[in-house]
Amino acid sequence: MSCRAAILISGSGTNLQAFIDAVAAGNLELDLCVVFSNNPNAFGLQRAEKAGIPTACIEHGDFLDRESFDRAVIEELDRWNPELLILAGFMRILSPTFVKHYEGKVLNIHPALLPKYPGLNTHQRVLDAGDKWHGSTVHFVTEELDGGPRILAGRLRVDPNETAEELLHRVQTIEHQVYPEAAGLVGSGRVAFHDGQAWIDGKLADEPIVRTFP
Ligand code: GRF
Repeated sequence: MSCRAAILISGSGTNLQAFIDAVAAGNLELDLCVVFSNNPNAFGLQRAEKAGIPTACIEHGDFLDRESFDRAVIEELDRWNPELLILAGFMRILSPTFVKHYEGKVLNIHPALLPKYPGLNTHQRVLDAGDKWHGSTVHFVTEELDGGPRILAGRLRVDPNETAEELLHRVQTIEHQVYPEAAGLVGSGRVAFHDGQAWIDGKLADEPIVRTFP
């Protein structure tokens, strides 16, 4: 039986589409049980509907604070019994209550080679710093923003003449490969979260798996 995964989005959902396509092509064994959004206009909800995946939406603006919104999201998600939560452009910071409830089951992809550049505007920051390498990192979510144990990073060489917009597009293209791969490793049990750390094939992983792209 494949692992039940919920995908959480707020926007366009190109990563969601990569998951849908990978499952449809037989390249990824996950049961995409629900796509959840905090934004009823997220285009990703249409992608899910087209693929026949159930959707759910709760608007954060209807709640007084993060804590009560997160409790409502937990209640909704728990109805679907997900074993894995995949944040794919979900633009909400998760409360400690949420993170504890799903400890070790939440994945995020961040567009930088973590631990470098947590937070926003990563592509411009990489160009400004003159870095040679950039990419995206899949990690387990902990209470530290963009700081949980890393699983897999996709990297590419930075062209100092490219714009932040061009770099963003190149990074997104590699995300569509590394995120399904990383989620598949967790779904199959090859990667696990124990004692606040990532374990890959039974070994404590100080460094993520790294894939290099052209
Ligand atoms: C991705 O680039 C990811 O790095 C960040 O949010 C973006 C989501 O894009 N966490 P999309 O909605 O999947 O197109």
